[in-house]
Amino acid sequence: MTAASSPDQADTLRRGSFAAAGRSLPTRLRCLSIASGKGGVGKTFVATGLACALAQKGFRVLLCDADLGLANADIQMGVDPRYTVQDVVFGRTTLAEAVVHTPYGPDLLASASGAVDMVEMGNARRQMFAEELLRFSVGYDFLILDVAAGIGSNITTFLLASPEVLVVVANEPTSIMDAYSLIKLLNRHPSPPAMQILVNLARSIGEGERLARRLAGITQRFLGISLPLVGLIVQDPVVGDAIRARIPVSVFAPRSPASQCLADVARAVAEGRMSRRVTVENLDNLFHQWARYDPRAAERRA
Ligand SMILES: Nc1ncnc2c1ncn2[C@@H]1O[C@H](COP(=O)(O)OP(=O)(O)O)[C@@H](O)[C@H]1O
Ligand SMILES: [Mg+2]
Repeated sequence: MTAASSPDQADTLRRGSFAAAGRSLPTRLRCLSIASGKGGVGKTFVATGLACALAQKGFRVLLCDADLGLANADIQMGVDPRYTVQDVVFGRTTLAEAVVHTPYGPDLLASASGAVDMVEMGNARRQMFAEELLRFSVGYDFLILDVAAGIGSNITTFLLASPEVLVVVANEPTSIMDAYSLIKLLNRHPSPPAMQILVNLARSIGEGERLARRLAGITQRFLGISLPLVGLIVQDPVVGDAIRARIPVSVFAPRSPASQCLADVARAVAEGRMSRRVTVENLDNLFHQWARYDPRAAERRA
């Protein structure tokens, strides 16, 4: 039985225990989903790099691998977590045990790759997981979600529950079109998330800025929204070296162009022109969407 087919019990439980938990939980947390229409544009690199850069600024950051199909944030963070989100869901461990401190500042909740068994969990398990994660995350300043690529309904439903979404785009026609399609879908919602563009793999600052202007122009013309550019990250061969060494680039090569770009993005995010505080309600909703994520139904990246 899936949550979608029988949400009643979980929802009733949720409302009950949610009320018991108290709506006065601290809400300083900001939650950013790192998304893209097309895969392979550097979402995991951006999620891990931004998490590290924010942690270097003194923020408490929890990085969650929410790409439940093809998880790999742990690889880029250079840790080998003993447990994953799936272990928490299936009661094999607690969230406190599963979340690992990384040597680079952020804490990480890893996911198992190819985790089709997430579909099989029952409502009660989902409920417990969402509650536990909710309580756990309010102790952080930032929750950064590395989300799967695509515009499948599971992914967009998930993103719609996230207050802030950074859409990662690279200078390729496919990436631009897919980013536009994602933005269009999210924008259809009556209360879309605060979306910003993050250009990755730019061959120069000028090229990145032109791309951001182009995409913002398209969204302005066809959707009536002008998306701000939160920052751009240049294509830098050191990124591949850092990933191969399993060390975040900001530690591997702090003075490299990619690290400097990440620091600028972190500054822009922290200053938060577009920032939205997480409310207990939308965080609760986010985790429930996550817990309901069905990788078999999700659109896989090309
Ligand atoms: N700014 C960059 N400069 C150079 N290579 C990059 C950059 N960003 C990402 N990459 C490369 O692109 C590949 C895909 O990145 P990844 O973060 O796994 O993408 P996604 O999570 O979107 O699938 C990685 O192997 C990485 O080496
Ligand atoms: Mg990824």
